[in-house]
Amino acid sequence: MALVFDKPSTRTRVSFETGVYELGGNALILRQGELQMARGESPRDVALVLSRMVHAVGIRTGPHATVEQLAEHASIPVINMLTHDHHPCQALADMMTLRERFGRLKGLKLAYVGDGNNMTRSLLLAGRLAGVEVAVASPPELSLPEAPGLEPAEAVAGAHALYTDVWVSMGDEDDAERRRELLAPYRIDAELLARARGDAIVLHCLPAHPGEEITEDVLYAERSAVWDQAENRLHAQKALLEHLLLAA
Ligand code: CP
Ligand code: NVA
Repeated sequence: MALVFDKPSTRTRVSFETGVYELGGNALILRQGELQMARGESPRDVALVLSRMVHAVGIRTGPHATVEQLAEHASIPVINMLTHDHHPCQALADMMTLRERFGRLKGLKLAYVGDGNNMTRSLLLAGRLAGVEVAVASPPELSLPEAPGLEPAEAVAGAHALYTDVWVSMGDEDDAERRRELLAPYRIDAELLARARGDAIVLHCLPAHPGEEITEDVLYAERSAVWDQAENRLHAQKALLEHLLLAA
């Protein structure tokens, strides 16, 4: 499997490489600047060539169109390992974590509190497929058009899970100061957690910035399912690969 990383990664890199190894395969890690794509080779040509040499491609990059072009021209599965618009592998592991904790998905409520970003979009899509209600609390300036932001207290009422993500995603660094100001009221802390269901868990795709989108006490609290959630990247992606490769 070719794993193309145009951006940094802890979980995605290690879970995919380990997962491929555990399934009996071999992962080629291709970092920013190593493929000729960095010098203008088209995603179409890269897709045509990789399709003849490996069984699947994973890619983490900024522009979503690059993943779509690879997928359009590849004859092997192309997996989105994060773009600026989507992070589906994380959402898959998140649904697994919810099912592990609550024994079901249908009828659960997940409250996402924070920046309207790739994670928000993928959670909305995965939630719709799985029957999980996803309520989003984001400042109006940083809301997704498909999820106009609620107030945090409104979003978390009756929620089975509180979810947050970084305030400054990869690629949004130029806007960091404005984002921190707008997002200051959208932090998961003990007070907000107390407004959710008594058995609510806390989720975060990581990396975390304690003191920004989540307080340190909540991140490491017993109700934090964050470390199981990170581990589930490995299990969910192994199942994804098995599904894609056995179906092919
Ligand atoms: N959650 C996640 O994708 O983490 P990494 O950026 O470390 O891969
Ligand atoms: N929204 C974050 C997710 C990191 C896993 C980003 O894109 O940087």
